[in-house]
Amino acid sequence: MQNKIAHLPVLRQLVQKYLNLKKNDIAVDCTLGLGGHSKDILRKIGSGGLLIAFEQDEQNLKIAKENLREYKNIVFVHSNFINLTETLIKHRLNGKINGILLDLGLCSSHLELENRGFSFKKDEPLDMRFSKELNRLTAEEIINKYSAKKLAEIFRNYGEEKYAFKIATEIEKIRRKTPIKTTGELAKIIERIIPHRHYEHIHPATRVFQALRIEVNNELEVLKNVLPQTIEALAPHGRLVVISYHSLEDRIVKHFFKFQARTCICLPHILICQCKHEPSIKILTKKPVRPSENEIKTNPRSRSALLRAAEKI
Ligand SMILES: C[S@@+](CC[C@H](N)C(=O)[O-])C[C@H]1O[C@@H](n2cnc3c(N)ncnc32)[C@H](O)[C@@H]1O
Repeated sequence: MQNKIAHLPVLRQLVQKYLNLKKNDIAVDCTLGLGGHSKDILRKIGSGGLLIAFEQDEQNLKIAKENLREYKNIVFVHSNFINLTETLIKHRLNGKINGILLDLGLCSSHLELENRGFSFKKDEPLDMRFSKELNRLTAEEIINKYSAKKLAEIFRNYGEEKYAFKIATEIEKIRRKTPIKTTGELAKIIERIIPHRHYEHIHPATRVFQALRIEVNNELEVLKNVLPQTIEALAPHGRLVVISYHSLEDRIVKHFFKFQARTCICLPHILICQCKHEPSIKILTKKPVRPSENEIKTNPRSRSALLRAAEKI
């Protein structure tokens, strides 16, 4: 079954262009997935290079290991990428990395494999954990235990869902009688609340499911935490490439890049710079780079991708 699961790497050529890796380089793929981008990296760095690849999802890691079995110069790390510094220190590689990739979020496999609970198109237990071994909190626990106020906040903040409060109140009403256990049950509740005219070309449950996934996996906090670690990890002129799939993630990356690239950090009322602050990166993408129409046609999942890249000074 595993070989049938495929994930088309997004913005493939541009990722390699911005990573700008050479033979014998050392690279980190923070989000191995099924190994698509990693394979391109391994080809670039050749057998004299080294790739450290993080993946927290046991099922994806297993498939990626199989997909990359011909390569000997890859170290697979079954861990959240939040442990980047710790892992690199262990391998004596912190500060020596030539290129780091973060291709955030979901893999096609999360929607295709059984019982992961990410898809509103299936009826299965509400899980949504990237790792069943490393994470404890499930979407079912959130839906049945969080207060309606907290649920509404999550749907609004992480899903930008206009009907957040109404959906949360309905969930609270229903779960008083019987717990909500499956993706199908939750999707039906949302379908009943959101009027048809507001479907906006996407399934009405899309936003709430995105919000729940972000909360289950603590995705925004983990991203905020890893970004400074990536700068420390890079060698001078090393490159960082981040692909995000929604504006919340992209905003975090944009602000982080801007902050790190600042030449002055004096308070606004100080007219002549006194800080002599040195920027730590040079931004390579003024605006986020998006996939072409052609790529979106062949790989619809790429439509929301936003790539930003920077180089360590
Ligand atoms: C968009 S997919 C990456 C696809 C990959 N670039 C490829 O070409 O196959 C994102 C992957 O990163 C993993 N992931 C997401 N957040 C993670 C984290 N904080 N730590 C480790 N892995 C993570 C997910 O489980 C998923 O497999």
